[in-house]
Parts: sequence; C-alpha cells; structure tokens
Amino acid sequence: MDYQKVLNQIQQEFADIHPSGKVASYIPELAKVPSDKFGMHLYDLEGNNYNFGDSNERFSIQSISKVFTLALAMKVVGDDLWNRVGVEPSGDPFNSLSQLENDSGIPRNPYINAGALVVADVLVSYFTNPKAALLAFLHEITGDSSIDFDTTVAASEQAEGYRNYAMVNYLKSFGNIENDVEKVLDFYFHQCSIAMSCRELAQAFIIFANHGTVLDSDREFLTGRQVKRINALMQTCGFYDEAGEFSFEVGLPGKSGVGGGIVAVNPYHYAVAVWSPPLNPKGNSALGMAALERLTTLTGFSIF
Ligand code: DON
Repeated sequence: MDYQKVLNQIQQEFADIHPSGKVASYIPELAKVPSDKFGMHLYDLEGNNYNFGDSNERFSIQSISKVFTLALAMKVVGDDLWNRVGVEPSGDPFNSLSQLENDSGIPRNPYINAGALVVADVLVSYFTNPKAALLAFLHEITGDSSIDFDTTVAASEQAEGYRNYAMVNYLKSFGNIENDVEKVLDFYFHQCSIAMSCRELAQAFIIFANHGTVLDSDREFLTGRQVKRINALMQTCGFYDEAGEFSFEVGLPGKSGVGGGIVAVNPYHYAVAVWSPPLNPKGNSALGMAALERLTTLTGFSIF
C-alpha cells in the first residue's frame, strides 16, 4: 500500500483547518507548545516509514506512557496485576475519582489515571530504580537511547497535580497503593513527561502490531497473549469516555495523551502516530482523531 500518498492527502486536506479545541493548560508547561504543530508518522511491518509535517519533533507523550508502563508491569508481575486493576471501560473522564468509591479503590482499567497510578505503584515496588527501568525498556524496544524524561514538564505537573495527589491518597486509603505516595507520583509524573516524536512512537508501538517482537529481531518482549490484552484495552479504554467514538470513527486500538499525541495500531500491518496539541473536551487531540479517521477511510482498512 502506498501510505505516503494517503498521508500526503491527509496533510493537504487539513492544511487550512485550524483545529477546534484547546492546548492543555492544567500542566502549565504544556500550554507553551504552539497549537499549530501537526505531524504524522506511519511505520509498517516491512520496515517502511511514511510521514509528514512535524513528525520528527519530540513532544510530551503524557498518557501514551501508560501503554509502556502497563506492558512493563504485565511482564514483571503477570496476572497478579488484575487483582488490583480492572479491564472495563470507565465511561468517565481520565482524571475522575468518582467510581473509586463504589469500586472500593479498584480502578476500572489501567489507562485512566487511577489505574495508571496503581500500575506505577507496582513498578515502584518491583524495581529498585523504576525510572531507569522504564527508560531501559523504551531504549530496548526503540534502539534509541536518547529517549528521556522532560524534567521541566514533570516538575510543572508535580507543582499543580492536585487531582493526582487526591487520587493516589484515595487509592492508598483503600490499601491499593503499597508505596509512599510521593514516590509513586514522582514516577508517574516522570513517565508522563517522556518526550518522543511521532516517528519514535510509531517505532516503539510496532511491537503491539508484531506479536510483541521488534522488527528484524527474534527477541520477544511480550507474548502474543499479552499483546492481545494490551491492544484490547487500547480499543475499549484508550480514549476514556471517548473510546466508543474513536472505535466508531477510526476502528483501531489506540492511546492518546494530553500533549496532543495519539498512537494507533493496525495489528500485523502498522503502527501510526499523530500529533496536534489542541484537545477536544474529552482531552484527546481533535485534529489527531480526524487525521486517523481519514487514514482508515482512505485506505479502506481498519480492524473491522
Ligand atoms: O495525569 C495527568 O493528568 C496527565 N499527566 C496525563 C493525562 C493524559 O494524558 C490524558 N490523556 N488524554
């Protein structure tokens, strides 16, 4: 398939469109990112790269990092993880606290903030240096050891992250956080601050399109069963209370972040990342969603 032709068409179609929505400002550092950034990168299983726009510029991956931490936690603790976090869509915003009361501190899924904080706690318990372990995992699957935290972004979120402070304390009151809350939050704010480009994200996510294996390598990072589960959760929970809409419009498993990035996977075919900072009211990139809708419509090819 000539994906470059399709990407060129998408770039052209959206060239004069100013996306509706607002750049995230509750993390002050993110508000400084220019709203007109727009890039897309598709990496296929033959190893071909297709892209346009600001696809090589790094941005804050935010909640996209939850897919990497989930993968790492599944690898190290196995099925015990599911005693502490569920696998059902929440139908609520990413930062909602309300369901935790009725669910006795068991988050609905690992992609809402509550679930990702429990996953962060699992990694903080397991690794002596969880931040180094997360970076090492990313460096291994991408082959790029320059991927790093943006400590300015992490500090900016830490200074204003009242909801996540509330969340982790609330989880701890139910006994679902083992470590000191400051330690868990420090790890979580750092994982969210990781800076990657669309190219790097597409290359990192290719393992979710390729049975858990990096292209051109026999090294299995995740089993087929683990990848099935990670992708299933992206499909049903990757966009919070907009997961249905993303499935309906795009038809691929994917994950968004409030930095304006979205990564999606077409299993056995490709991983694709798009970046446009203005967010819709559900906290997902407005233009990113529209661009991915055009990708699966123009190619006539989604998982459905
Ligand atoms: O915890 C937060 O609120 C942010 N660090 C991440 C949220 C996020 O990216 C939600 N995604 N669309």
